[in-house]
Amino acid sequence: MGRVIAVLSGKGGVGKTFFSANVSAALSDLGRKTLVIDFDVGLRNLDLALGMQDSTPFDFTDVLNGTATLESAITVHPLHKNLYFLGGPQFSEISELSDDSLEKLTQAVRESFDYIIVDCAAGIGRGFTLAAKAADSVILVVTPENSSVRDSERTCSILREKGMNDIYLVVNRVRPKEIKRAELNNIDEIIDTVNVRLLGLVPEDVKTSVRANRGELTLDCKKAKMQATAIRNVAKRITGVETPLFRFWK
Ligand SMILES: Nc1ncnc2c1ncn2[C@@H]1O[C@H](COP(=O)(O)OP(=O)(O)OP(=O)(O)O)[C@@H](O)[C@H]1O
Ligand SMILES: [Mg+2]
Repeated sequence: MGRVIAVLSGKGGVGKTFFSANVSAALSDLGRKTLVIDFDVGLRNLDLALGMQDSTPFDFTDVLNGTATLESAITVHPLHKNLYFLGGPQFSEISELSDDSLEKLTQAVRESFDYIIVDCAAGIGRGFTLAAKAADSVILVVTPENSSVRDSERTCSILREKGMNDIYLVVNRVRPKEIKRAELNNIDEIIDTVNVRLLGLVPEDVKTSVRANRGELTLDCKKAKMQATAIRNVAKRITGVETPLFRFWK
C-alpha cells in the first residue's frame, strides 16, 4: 500500500511545486514507484516543472468523472522510469470537487505506487482540507522568512485540529552564504516554533526558476549538485533511511 504525502504551505510561492517534482524524482531514483499529482486546481504548473506538459490531454478530474482511465491519465517521466505524473485541471475550480474526491483518487492508486506525492495550493482553503483528509502524512514547506514561519505555525495547528499528526518540515531557499551561526539558530527557531520534525534544508539557487522554465529538474542538472543532494537526502529520510543533515553552508 502506497503512502500518500501532501505537500502544503501557509504562504504561497515557497517552492512546493519545485520540491514536489524533485523529491518525487529522488524517490523514484531510490527505486520507489512514485506518483506525483498536481492538486493545485486551476493554477496547475507541476507539468511544467517536470517538463511533462502535453503528455496527455487528461487530468485527475477526467478520472474522477469517468471520462478517462487512470492508465490514460497517468504518464511516465522521460528520464526517471519510476516517476509518474497525474495532472490537474486548468479550467475547474476546487469548489467543483466533492469532499471525498482526493481520497477516492488516492485509494484508486495506492496499490500501484509506493509513494503518492500531492502538490497542493498554498493556504488553508478547501484544497488544504481535502488534502489533509486524504493524506497519511504532510510535508510543510517553509522559507526562512518570518512571515512564512508564522503561517506554517498556524497551518500546523489547523492540521492537528483536523487529526493530522504526521507532519514534517522542509526549509527551502536557505541561503548558504547567510548561514552563519546566528542564522543557524534561526533554523532551530523555525523547528521549535513550528514544532515538527525537520526533513531537510534546501539551498537557494538563483538558477532554479530558469531550470523550471525549461522543464528541467534540479536532479537532472549537473550544475545543481547542492540542491540535488539536499533533496536526495530528504527522499532518503522519507523512506526511513537515517541520513545526516546536509551541511551545504560549510
Ligand atoms: N530553492 C530555491 N532556490 C531558488 N528559487 C527557488 C527555490 N525553490 C523554488 N524557487 C522558485 O520560487 C518560485 C516559486 O516556486 P514554486 O512554484 O515551486 O512555489 P509554490 O509554493 O509551488 O507556489 P504556489 O503557492 O503558487 O503553488 C519559482 O520561480 C521557483 O523556481
Ligand atoms: Mg505550486
